[in-house]
Amino acid sequence: MDRPFIYLDNAATSFPKPEAVLKAVDHALRVVGGSPGRSGHRLAINADKIIFEARENICRLLGIADSSRLIFTSGATESLNLAIKGILESGDHVVISSMEHSSVTRPLHSLSQKAVEVTKVKCDKKGLLAPDDITKAIKKNTRLIVLTHASNVTGTIQPVCEVGKIARERGITFLVDACQTAGVFPIDLESIPVDMLAASGHKGLLGPQGTGILYIRPGINLSPLKEGGTGRGPSDDKQPEALPDRFEAGTMNTPGIAGLGAAAAFLLEQTVEAVRQKEMLLYKQLLEGLIAIEGVTTYGSSDPGKKVSLLSFNIEGLDPSLVSFRLDEEFDILSRSGLHCAPDAHKTVGTFPEGAVRLSPGFYNIPGDIDKTIAAIHRIAKER
Ligand code: ALA
Repeated sequence: MDRPFIYLDNAATSFPKPEAVLKAVDHALRVVGGSPGRSGHRLAINADKIIFEARENICRLLGIADSSRLIFTSGATESLNLAIKGILESGDHVVISSMEHSSVTRPLHSLSQKAVEVTKVKCDKKGLLAPDDITKAIKKNTRLIVLTHASNVTGTIQPVCEVGKIARERGITFLVDACQTAGVFPIDLESIPVDMLAASGHKGLLGPQGTGILYIRPGINLSPLKEGGTGRGPSDDKQPEALPDRFEAGTMNTPGIAGLGAAAAFLLEQTVEAVRQKEMLLYKQLLEGLIAIEGVTTYGSSDPGKKVSLLSFNIEGLDPSLVSFRLDEEFDILSRSGLHCAPDAHKTVGTFPEGAVRLSPGFYNIPGDIDKTIAAIHRIAKER
């Protein structure tokens, strides 16, 4: 469908969604209607099937053998809160990088008021973490390491396997924030040393907003964030122990999960490798175009192999919010400027407090979108 704008804000939420996602949401609302796991009638059973299939599809996509370990949440913020608050106790120490999102730093700030100690390991100017610095930060009481798989500011992919190995050798739980990688970068949880993985359903996974996931490896015990009805389980006041019910209290977001399941099926068919290849061609085109413009500074790794498809930049002398505004108003190009809910990341790359303009090409962009965007930025930079 022709649209009167160019959408380059897929790192915030992907748009448009595959047609199958729209159809699945519509079907869940229009035809299915029931509450999964709550009643024995046909509509409830059909809703249960939707949840089951969506869980299986996502597990196939992420290499998860036991689908009961995949929890549906309202988004990555809930997933990260559950993982962090569910494991840490007073007296524990946690190590994170200086590229983390507020959905990591804010829950940890509140836990630091309850005697949880936090160490932020500084990454280099490109946003890359040195695994040795994680080793140096570990203490006797380190319970958790949290690392973004790829920063939402620089797109730089972090050495998660190396850090996971460090964590595993020391018996420390390792949580990965895969918001910018799930669906667009191959992830196989059977083979990588990651204990918990949180992701949004509505970014690279191409599902609807209001969906998210948390994978919890067997042997990791968390306290639930919320307790309540699960439709199944013991008939007393205790929250069930069995997963996924333990962490899925309350009526499920069946329409959202239906859409997410259809999105996962779409990605399985397309393959994540092909999605990555397509997005990274657009990214390289964008990078090459922007670095050639006088007055433009780009941030993050210059090696596309160590990046996901997002590029933050500034134009010398211009406020990033003004650049983003002009791209929208004058050129119909939609970007995101500012601090991207990750002030530490901007401090690391030297763009705090004004931030940067972020462009994030997605699956449905075409090379022509990037040509127009480069031309628009060239014009804004020239008119300074
Ligand atoms: N965290 C999301 C972003 O980077 C919303 O835009």
